[in-house]
Amino acid sequence: MINFHKDHANLVNVALLVFVLLSTGIAVVPADTMQHNEPLPGMPVMTEAQRRGLAIYVSEGCVACHTQQVRNIEMDRVWGSRPSIPSDYHYSKQRMNVWQQSPSLLGSERTGPDLTSIGQRQPGEQWHLLHLYDPRMVVKGSIMPRYPWLFQEVDSVASIGQVVVPVPADRLKDPKSKVIATRAANDLVAYLISLEQTPLPEGTPPAVFLPSPGAKGEAVALTTPDALPDGSAIFSQTCAACHQADAKGLAGAFPPLMGSSIVNNEDPTQMITIVLGGYDARAEFGVMPAQAEMLTDAQIAAVVNHVRSSFGNEAPPTTAEAVKAVRSTVAPGTALQP
Ligand code: HEC
Ligand code: HEC
Repeated sequence: MINFHKDHANLVNVALLVFVLLSTGIAVVPADTMQHNEPLPGMPVMTEAQRRGLAIYVSEGCVACHTQQVRNIEMDRVWGSRPSIPSDYHYSKQRMNVWQQSPSLLGSERTGPDLTSIGQRQPGEQWHLLHLYDPRMVVKGSIMPRYPWLFQEVDSVASIGQVVVPVPADRLKDPKSKVIATRAANDLVAYLISLEQTPLPEGTPPAVFLPSPGAKGEAVALTTPDALPDGSAIFSQTCAACHQADAKGLAGAFPPLMGSSIVNNEDPTQMITIVLGGYDARAEFGVMPAQAEMLTDAQIAAVVNHVRSSFGNEAPPTTAEAVKAVRSTVAPGTALQP
């Protein structure tokens, strides 16, 4: 038996041994295991522009208010289709440079929403640019700060390839000037739009969300009596960001759906085609991104019916079957011309 009272060297050695074993077991080995995660099959490699955007995301301090982690609890289900795993961060864990470690994107505070799948939730480039220029222009009452230094106000658009941000004229110091996005803004938006959860490879056990502490039973499925999902909820989640909650749109950027002749057309085909495939018909408005990958037939039917019967619009309802029929004619990702 070692006598710690008489032999202090033994005390130090045993304490050291315990310290080394514990740190190896609970810090070094797990940290080392985390270094060897592979990217998921089908995970797109980050482009140069997206990587520069990531650096701007870090330097502008977006991490202070936004997380990028879907936790394994029921209440996080809204932020992704499955809980986050180490492989999700494979491409962003590269060191920033010799002096800076790989960026920590997990975040610890959700003053704003989690951004794990923001590229899926909000793929509109112009929406992101407007939102960064002034969040309150697209989200009334937002407390997110403006990032005007990522933009330039110019008299005329000099070169082709410069991205003009559809800022309404009454919001500019000189109504004749134009706002263009700097490379930093374009890179940051490229990064945000790239954020999307890659599905797990086939054969992996399905990722399940554990019930949140205190949650009772199954989450209630939001369905209306005719078995379509709640169109008004889909409108708020998907369309209101651009067309605004009152469907009055935003002059110069997003057209109103209130009183729109396309919305009120007896035949819903054109409206369904626009929602599925996107729309870029007029120069005075931005580009509407395709929703085909984001919404199911039933969800599209529900939101189309909601828009066609609210905001003073009056048009007959459609069905999920009708959306399905139109979907088979719309090539994914094509922004439609009139
Ligand atoms: C002071 C906290 C704060 C900071 C800093 C901040 N945000 Fe936000 N952000 C918010 C809040 C609050 C919202 C929700 C309201 C809104 O959409 O504007 C939000 C919303 C967003 C959204 C839309 C999310 C959604 O689900 O619709 C994006 C994208 C976004 N922020 C990106 C950024 C980027 C990029 C930066 C850094 C340049 C940033 N934010 C910095 C608070 C912040
Ligand atoms: C990222 C922004 C954005 C989102 C999100 C969005 N739209 Fe649009 N939408 C637009 C823009 C921009 C146009 C106009 C395009 C043009 O004419 O060049 C448009 C046009 C339309 C039109 C044609 C209106 C008319 O009178 O010309 C309809 C209908 C429409 N959107 C419905 C929807 C519905 C329904 C949703 C939600 C499922 C939705 N949009 C989501 C940006 C968006």
